[in-house]
Amino acid sequence: MRESVLINDVGPRDGLQNQTRILSVEQRIELISGLVNAGVRSVEAGAFVSPKAVPAMANTDQVLAGISDVSGLDRQVLIPNRKGYELARSAGADTVVLVICASETMNQRNVRMSIEASIAQAGEICQLARADGVRVVGCIAVAWQCPFEGGTDPGKVLDLAGQLFALGVDDVNVADTIGAANPLAVGKLIRALASEYGAARLACHFHDTRALAMANIFAALEAGVRKFDSAVGGIGGCPFAPGATGNAASEDVVMLLEQMGFDTGIDLSALMGVGKMVGSMLATATGGRADAWRRIQLEKGAPLI
Ligand code: COA
Ligand code: ZN
Repeated sequence: MRESVLINDVGPRDGLQNQTRILSVEQRIELISGLVNAGVRSVEAGAFVSPKAVPAMANTDQVLAGISDVSGLDRQVLIPNRKGYELARSAGADTVVLVICASETMNQRNVRMSIEASIAQAGEICQLARADGVRVVGCIAVAWQCPFEGGTDPGKVLDLAGQLFALGVDDVNVADTIGAANPLAVGKLIRALASEYGAARLACHFHDTRALAMANIFAALEAGVRKFDSAVGGIGGCPFAPGATGNAASEDVVMLLEQMGFDTGIDLSALMGVGKMVGSMLATATGGRADAWRRIQLEKGAPLI
């Protein structure tokens, strides 16, 4: 049996939050349905954040309602605070992703509170979530570099992860929000986190700003991580982190993993179809770095893996 790697497609959240075109609820549901049909079992379906701060994520409750009957799907949503948790729970999210930035400046700009205040809310949210049967992922943003404060001290990330696990989060997602990490730094930080808290409870999130997302995924994989965020079509970016471009494209990540013998459960040609669809909805998706090669293979009827 091949070893599985879980891909959480964050296209419907990270991918859409910073686009000039705002997709309708129906288009967002169509995107998620396409991902599910391609075999994706975990999606970041949206965010319960202020619609004034991120207009593209308004009406995430309606998106969740539109996918409520999909079985076997982990419906994740990003939340910045306790109000976000309450909205997410009422809307039927399976997993909440609570974002905390590893730098004070970024945390203030992103969620308008101190790291200490975010951690206090994380404690309340974990308690509620345990009673409600909701999974909690603590996402540590700008884990390698902050656009305002520069390089992040790995000790700070280790400490934040420890606090989050102690509060009861199920997983910690380590995020390179602006795509500034490199494979050596990724390996070093992830090995340290894995030896302290276990690789099974870690996930990683990489942006491809400097064309290193795939190399960084490989470094995290070698350090034991088996859960990755990526976005169909390579869409993505953060409105509060200047310079951040798209996420690692799910198409490229699936290809990397399947070529190395891992099982993602995702049908690559079906996923390419979803990438094309989101590309025409937004006019910004690239389809991933190997898109041109994959299209030629498909035209020839040749294998993609
Ligand atoms: N979802 C929706 N609305 C929320 C909310 C949430 N999670 N949290 C607070 N609000 C509302 C409040 O009810 C209030 O509404 P009102 O103006 O109608 O009274 C308004 O937002 C302001 O509340 P306040 O607590 O003062 O928040 P703020 O203005 O300091 O903003 C956040 C804090 C977290 C809500 C806002 O900065 C935000 O949504 N950030 C999103 C970050 C994000 O998505 N980043 C990208 C992904 S990492
Ligand atoms: Zn991101």
